[in-house]
Amino acid sequence: MKKNKKLRPNPSEVGTDTPAVTPAVIMNQTDSPKIRLENITYYYGKGTPFEVKALDSVSLDIHGGKLTGIIGHTGSGKSTLVQLLNGLSRAGEGRVLLDGEDIWARPKEIGKIRYRVGLVMQYPEYQLFEETVFADIAYGPRNMKLSEEEVKERVYKAAAFAGVSPDLMEKSPFDLSGGQKRRVAIAGIMAMEPEVLVLDEPAAGLDPQGRHTIFQGIREYNRNTGCTVLIVSHSMEDMAQYCDDVVVMAHAKVLMAGDRDHVFDRADELEAVGLDIPQVTKLCQLLRRGGMPIPAGLYTVGAAEDALVQLFSEAKKEKKGGNRL
Ligand SMILES: Nc1ncnc2c1ncn2[C@@H]1O[C@H](COP(=O)(O)OP(=O)(O)OP(=O)(O)O)[C@@H](O)[C@H]1O
Ligand SMILES: [Mg+2]
Repeated sequence: MKKNKKLRPNPSEVGTDTPAVTPAVIMNQTDSPKIRLENITYYYGKGTPFEVKALDSVSLDIHGGKLTGIIGHTGSGKSTLVQLLNGLSRAGEGRVLLDGEDIWARPKEIGKIRYRVGLVMQYPEYQLFEETVFADIAYGPRNMKLSEEEVKERVYKAAAFAGVSPDLMEKSPFDLSGGQKRRVAIAGIMAMEPEVLVLDEPAAGLDPQGRHTIFQGIREYNRNTGCTVLIVSHSMEDMAQYCDDVVVMAHAKVLMAGDRDHVFDRADELEAVGLDIPQVTKLCQLLRRGGMPIPAGLYTVGAAEDALVQLFSEAKKEKKGGNRL
């Protein structure tokens, strides 16, 4: 199967010069975003009858070390946006800054950016092509000219995060189930240990257990490595459960962006564009608005259950105390 070389860069694209450390924008050290999008506008088929404005003056900061979810309706521009982050495509207007430096400052070295920002495209399992699972996950690290020992170490580490069992290593990727193939493809990008890992719909088409395994693994990867992670998803429930920050896209623009609690607190605005917060969160918000002292930020049935049980047991204690008086 044909390999998409743009995703796992070839050493010949990378060049040998060390990038100059002269950030294009000087920013407050404590608040420098890992990635900054400045006023990005992106067209497909510009100047043709089929012209589509897929991104319209988008400015956005992605914070280092966080797990950020990008959510929005079909066609809102999510995939277009993430494909700009590693230079897979280039916007006609605006800039993408990585650690303060324009990723297109030296176009010939854009391959270097693809090691720093790893992109897992939608349905990445169609890009597996090596004879064994091990070789497939090792493809990126081997291109990075690491020693075979280090390659092996990275392969097993990435496989553990992505949920690929060690006994699959010598199998052909084509003998695996759809979910297993997906995990191998994700491990292949993780094994390059990029500073930023971007996944476009990593759980698309998987059953609830498959979704959970993938999201849980990605979250552990984020927490253990400190790598900045971006996940594109349609699922508000998944975003609520796993992400620190959330970016909401609508009609080629960023509608809102911020930490999860703040974004989900704006349920009415989300509903106005046809998105919905998790049902359990909505119920808790309504109860809170109705006067019940339920904490904000409850995104799972389990968390809501714990909060309600605690609330009722406190109320019971108070009632008993009140009776004694
Ligand atoms: N290769 C392309 N050629 C022309 N138009 C495109 C192309 N890719 C995307 N578009 C259009 O650009 C807009 C944004 O598409 P994009 O794929 O970024 O949306 P998305 O939010 O990722 O959608 P989905 O949730 O369905 O994956 C849509 O109107 C889409 O039809
Ligand atoms: Mg998409």
